[in-house]
Amino acid sequence: MFVFVYPRHICRGALYIIFTLLIVATGNGKTPGIGGNNTLDLSRRKMRRRCRLELSGDCHLVETSVACLRRREFVYNSRLSCLTDLIAPVPVSLKTPDEIARMRVAGRLAAEVLEMIAPHVEPGVSTHELDSICHDYIVNVQKAIPAPLNYRGFPKSICTSVNQVICHGIPSETKILKKGDIINIDITVIKDGYYGDTSQMFLVGEVAPHAIRLVEVTQQCLYRAIAVVKPGARLGDIGHVIQTHAEKNHYSVVREYCGHGIGTEFHQDPQVLHYGRAGTGMVLEAGMTFTIEPMINAGRHHTKLKKDGWTVETRDGRLSAQWEHTLCVTRDGVEVLTARQDEIIPL
Ligand code: MF3
Ligand code: CO
Ligand code: CO
Repeated sequence: MFVFVYPRHICRGALYIIFTLLIVATGNGKTPGIGGNNTLDLSRRKMRRRCRLELSGDCHLVETSVACLRRREFVYNSRLSCLTDLIAPVPVSLKTPDEIARMRVAGRLAAEVLEMIAPHVEPGVSTHELDSICHDYIVNVQKAIPAPLNYRGFPKSICTSVNQVICHGIPSETKILKKGDIINIDITVIKDGYYGDTSQMFLVGEVAPHAIRLVEVTQQCLYRAIAVVKPGARLGDIGHVIQTHAEKNHYSVVREYCGHGIGTEFHQDPQVLHYGRAGTGMVLEAGMTFTIEPMINAGRHHTKLKKDGWTVETRDGRLSAQWEHTLCVTRDGVEVLTARQDEIIPL
C-alpha cells in the first residue's frame, strides 16, 4: 500500500517549485557516484545554501532543499530529474502488517548470515572465501537471493569493506584478512520478494585499541539512532544523534552515503542521512521501514571512489567503520528487523 506521506498540502507544492527553480537555476553539482546506498552530493556551495534555508527556521523549506540534493537510486545527473523529483515528491510507503511479517523473515535471514559467517572471519581468509560461503548459505540453505549479486553490475553477493574502505568493498581472492584488520560485512537478502539489509564490523585477531574504539563508537551511533525512532520523531533526529555522538568522539560522519527506505526494493525513499538537525526532516509514521547505517571515519569525512566504480575509501586513508540495521516504525516505537540472536539493543 502506498500512502503519500509527503507533502500533504498543495500550497507546499508551490514552495517546492519555487525553491527548485531557484536551486536548479544555480546548478546541480558534480556527477553522481555509484553506490549501493543512495548517494548525496553536498558541494560546499549547496551546503551553504542548505544552511541558509535551515536558518530560516521553516522545516518544510529545509526538506525542500535536502530533496533537491537527493539522488534517489543515485541516477540523478540532470537538472531536469532534480526538478521532476520536487514537482512530484516521492511517496514513502507504509507497510501493512502482512508486508512487515515478510520483512521480518527477510531481516532474520540477513542477520543469520552474519551469525553464520562470524567464525570464518579470521586472519588468512580471503574476502572471496567469505563471499562464497555466504552465497552458498543464502542460496542453498536459506533458499533466498543475495541482493548485491548483479545489482547495478555489482559482481559479488556481499560487500566486504576492510580498514580504510568505507563501504561497497568487492570481495576478492587477493584480499586476505590479517591480524589487526577491521572489516564490515554487509548482507542483503531477498526472501519472498522482500529485502533485509544489515551489516556489522568484525575484528580480525588482535586489533589496536584505537580501531576497537572506532568500531564501538560507530555501533553506539547506530544504537542511539535506533532509540530515537518512533512515530512523530523526524529524520533529522536520527542524523543529529549520530553526528553528535561521532563528533563528540572526534570522528566524522560520511556525507555521501546514507540509509534508505527498504521493502520490495533494495533502496527506496526516504534517504536517511547520518547527520543533521534535530526537529527537521520527514516525520516518521508507523509502518515505515528503512535502514540506518552510519559510516564513521577516524579522520576526515571525505570519500573517494576507486576505479572499480564501487569501492568507497576514506580520502585521508584513515580507518572507517559501519554498522547497519533494517527497522520498522511501530505504533509505540521501533522494531529491529535484522537483530541478531545475542544482540542487546538499548532502547
Ligand atoms: N547493502 C548496501 C546498503 O546498505 C548496498 C550494497 S549494494 C552493492 O545499502 F551493490 F554494493 F552490493
Ligand atoms: Co542499506
Ligand atoms: Co547494507
